[in-house]
Amino acid sequence: MSEVKVYPVDPEFAAKAHIDNAKYQAMYEQSVNDPDAFWGEHGKRLDWFNPYTRVKHTSFDPHNVDIRWFEDGTLNAAYNCLDRHLETRGDQVAIIWEGDDPSESARITYRDLYERVCRLANALKAQGVEKGDVVTLYMPMIPEAAVAMLACARIGAVHSVVFGGFSPEALANRIEGAESVLVITSDYSLRGGKVVPLKANVDKALTDPAAAKFCEKVVVVKRTGDDLAWHDHRDVWYHDITARASVECPAEEVNAEDPLFILYTSGSTGKPKGLKHTTGGYLVYASMTHEYVFDYKEGDIYWCTADVGWVTGHSYIVYGPLANGATTLMFEGVPSYPDNSRFGRVIEKHGVNQFYTAPTAIRALMQQGEDVLGDSDLSSLRLLGSVGEPINPEAWEWYHRVVGKGRCPIVDTWWQTETGGIMIAPLPGATDAKPGSATRPFFGVQPALVDNEGNELEGAVDGNLVIKDSWPGQSRSIWGDHERFVQTYFSTFKGYYTTGDGARRDEDGCYWITGRVDDVLNVSGHRMGTAEIESAMVAHPAVAEAAVVGYPHNLKGQGIYVYVTLQAGFDASDELLKELRNWVRSEIGPIASPDLIQFAPGMPKTRSGKIMRRILRKIAEDDYGALGDTSTLADPTVVDDLIENRLNRK
Ligand code: WTA
Repeated sequence: MSEVKVYPVDPEFAAKAHIDNAKYQAMYEQSVNDPDAFWGEHGKRLDWFNPYTRVKHTSFDPHNVDIRWFEDGTLNAAYNCLDRHLETRGDQVAIIWEGDDPSESARITYRDLYERVCRLANALKAQGVEKGDVVTLYMPMIPEAAVAMLACARIGAVHSVVFGGFSPEALANRIEGAESVLVITSDYSLRGGKVVPLKANVDKALTDPAAAKFCEKVVVVKRTGDDLAWHDHRDVWYHDITARASVECPAEEVNAEDPLFILYTSGSTGKPKGLKHTTGGYLVYASMTHEYVFDYKEGDIYWCTADVGWVTGHSYIVYGPLANGATTLMFEGVPSYPDNSRFGRVIEKHGVNQFYTAPTAIRALMQQGEDVLGDSDLSSLRLLGSVGEPINPEAWEWYHRVVGKGRCPIVDTWWQTETGGIMIAPLPGATDAKPGSATRPFFGVQPALVDNEGNELEGAVDGNLVIKDSWPGQSRSIWGDHERFVQTYFSTFKGYYTTGDGARRDEDGCYWITGRVDDVLNVSGHRMGTAEIESAMVAHPAVAEAAVVGYPHNLKGQGIYVYVTLQAGFDASDELLKELRNWVRSEIGPIASPDLIQFAPGMPKTRSGKIMRRILRKIAEDDYGALGDTSTLADPTVVDDLIENRLNRK
């Protein structure tokens, strides 16, 4: 290991921050020693209709995984994000919207947002949506996406946001899996000047009878106004149904453990899983982490560049910031449009104070050179954040120097769809930063490292990252499949929540996330299951067998490397290569597009027929000198062909 550089907390920053180191230590200790008292107190950051008397009721025992927080309290998430702010900050901007086209932007006050949410909530009720129903959102980054999430929450419906980059197939599976009764979408979406036909994708998804069986209505936001196909019995315009709705809609009283949303994410096996998040604990955790990790203060302008289709958008564009009465910026476009200085322009235009983005975006900018953000005035920035994948120290240093001008602390935040909120991250007034390390746990989070047998490891060591006890933001189940939830997260290492990540702990107790230890890839900060891509590949008539592995990629973090064995009668041609790539795009979505496809006459298999992924990974990494023992393979000669024709040559 090369010498680790430490960036100590700036005392001036610490003096003004919510949490300094002494406070962190004291609060952390209480949070793990007496979680009932700690969370009992911090749960009060929300407004409850009926206050809770019980705080923590959780078990990680694989025979009885049961996670409940604040279980006898009642509240409403939209009420906490809107109504309670009206008196003091009705005229304050809640959402700054920056359109794909730099000439388009909007400022939506809390009062305005409240009215929009009430209108849509009433309109959804009029369309037949009831408490507990699942509503699927397939939307661009427009204010209506946040409005729709909050409108669902307001009436006790459960939203399931599906990223707008997913294919009709993927959308259909998620509508079916959640038994969703209604879809909210827009006619088209605009990203980087490109138009994507979202509504047509919904139409296509609903040609799948399994999805159409549940979904009766499609609500369409007019974004571009271009022509589109219409089904009178099913489709309604958002502007029509909201125009005639009242601007007052009482917030439904829901139980703390009633579901707020489902969010699908990829796992190492099988179909994507719909993680279930509930209302009380999630909102306490999202709002508290937002305030402390970003050191959010009244009046700050906060920008998270994620998409609402991912958990980061849920917790840190919508729920956390709005529960805190913050001004949250929502960006429709991409960092490279109209040119690479866009992030800088937006920061300057809106006076952004906290900026939260992903390493993949940082690396893409970094490649353009030090002056990529042009002459943008970045002096409003006070803090920078990173999420989604490990940030390499070079990118960290660049972010710190070029974007933060050397004066902004960086919070490298490790967490997952399953965790609901940030789990390991520096608190900017408390924790010295180390480029590449997510550093220390947030309040209530007890990380540990275990070996493959589940023995807990002490001291400075590498291992499987697990969490020892529950925290309020944790996912409660997989929608419709609690057994799978138990199997995936609580059965490998008994008594722990298994994260699927590996990590190293250093002498100071700081955590360095090393990446997934399962068959999940992280491509440009997007989680992709290798099994999902493989099953899409083998659905193509030319493909007999496919194996997918990740390999280090300069920009994306990991690239997608596919080994394909063709059915007899098909030739390995350039056309077929192109066709296979497009096939995956249309089956899953562009984010799953393979970077490299190698035709292989055979796969390296054990005598019992199991594909040896370790070998495929090494070859994809161009590290075939370290293949290890291949003598146990059924046919060791396939390896020679794989090496000979490998595509990633350094
Ligand atoms: C990875 C995104 C290193 C990790 C919030 C995790 C990270 C997966 C970091 C979850 C980070 C996320 N450093 N790795 N700061 N943040 N990851 O569910 O592998 O889309 O398990 O949630 O991303 O991805 P997900």
